[in-house]
Amino acid sequence: MELSRCRICQSQISEIISFGKMPIANAFVEQSLQNEYRFNLIAGYCTSCYMFQLLEQPNPDQMFHESYPFFTGLSMTMKKHFVEMSKNHIPDEIVNNKDSFIIEIGCNDGTFLQNVMDKKIKHLGVDPSKNVVEKAQEKGINAIAEFYSAEISRTIDEKYGKAIRIFASNVICHIPDMHDFFQGIKNNLSPEGEFIFEEPYLLSMLKKTSYDQLYDEHVYMFSLMSIQKIADMYDLILVDAIAQDTHGGSMRYVLKHESTGQKLSQQGLNLLDEERKYELDKLQTYQTFAMNCESRKQEFVTLLNTLKLQNKVIGGYAATSKSTTVLNYCGIDKNLITFISDSTPEKIGTVAPGSHIPIISHEEMRAMKPDYLVLFAWNHEKEIMEKEHLLTQQGMKWIKFVPEVGLINEK
Ligand code: TMP
Ligand code: ZN
Repeated sequence: MELSRCRICQSQISEIISFGKMPIANAFVEQSLQNEYRFNLIAGYCTSCYMFQLLEQPNPDQMFHESYPFFTGLSMTMKKHFVEMSKNHIPDEIVNNKDSFIIEIGCNDGTFLQNVMDKKIKHLGVDPSKNVVEKAQEKGINAIAEFYSAEISRTIDEKYGKAIRIFASNVICHIPDMHDFFQGIKNNLSPEGEFIFEEPYLLSMLKKTSYDQLYDEHVYMFSLMSIQKIADMYDLILVDAIAQDTHGGSMRYVLKHESTGQKLSQQGLNLLDEERKYELDKLQTYQTFAMNCESRKQEFVTLLNTLKLQNKVIGGYAATSKSTTVLNYCGIDKNLITFISDSTPEKIGTVAPGSHIPIISHEEMRAMKPDYLVLFAWNHEKEIMEKEHLLTQQGMKWIKFVPEVGLINEK
């Protein structure tokens, strides 16, 4: 069902861009699959509460299930990032207090909670995907396979008491019912506690035209402006915001109970200023984004077609969720991109959602000696360029499409 009212404040929503019929971004499928599930990927903007959101979303059960093929721990960048996060936001007084309790929502394979467990702090991870939760449990992490909700929050509260920290990384933007979610946070957060979450950042997406951040799982793209609005509905207050490089430009938000009397930090105020300067509160800004997406698509397809006419072998590097939007919006299939290589065992041997481009291992990819590789994991450019420097030395060329369409090696 398509939405005409804002998911947060119920105001009339303005449609910004339609990317067409999309499969589920992470539904890597067998070649033979018929009648693949698709939904309309349309983004809209609410001029009342500033929330950028998808107008239609598949049932969450379609997306986060027993065989969700994403494991945080596979990325070194994310591993390091979470070590830093635990250092910065879990001070000694929390570590030294035996009553401290920390929740992580969307704990995935426990990459972040590992740091909490190592400090012997009472903790709980909540994640709807059973297979990733099992990975966390194998490491000794206390985790349950559930969707976080107001109802679950009450069970958690009864069993463990209030949490001094609630963490969530790249998860809240996945949750359609933010009201139920925030009710849960209200129940679980201790009076002095901090709710710390980070999500892809709307302003980064607009600046880079990284429309591939939009896929079924990302119902929202947050900004400080929109987070302040929703926090206010729950007597919570934004006290800090810290820009992050991860996932192609994220923002970490820190919320507390309003009753603490704390105010937004100076760096938060500066970020808010930048949002105002960029006119994140104006519809026109989003209409410009829509036009930029369309021209980016044309440029990308033209480049691939030109190379194909020269009989070049083009592959893709990393079968990311983001790539599903790019491939399907741009109408790219295996005639243009022959394969996509990836390190996730669960993805290898399947085909990419919608485009049905075969997924192979990086080893197989190297044996195929492609002339060009499209860097679908553009947010991990540094890590991948280091890891794959031999390929580059051998003359293989990298194609990027964010922030511009072009070749990485020939800047
Ligand atoms: P995501 O962008 O949806 O999180 O997916 C990242 C995918 O990229 C995941 O399938 C693993 C893959 N990947 C590689 O194959 N090699 C790499 O070096 C990195 C960083 C990711
Ligand atoms: Zn709204």
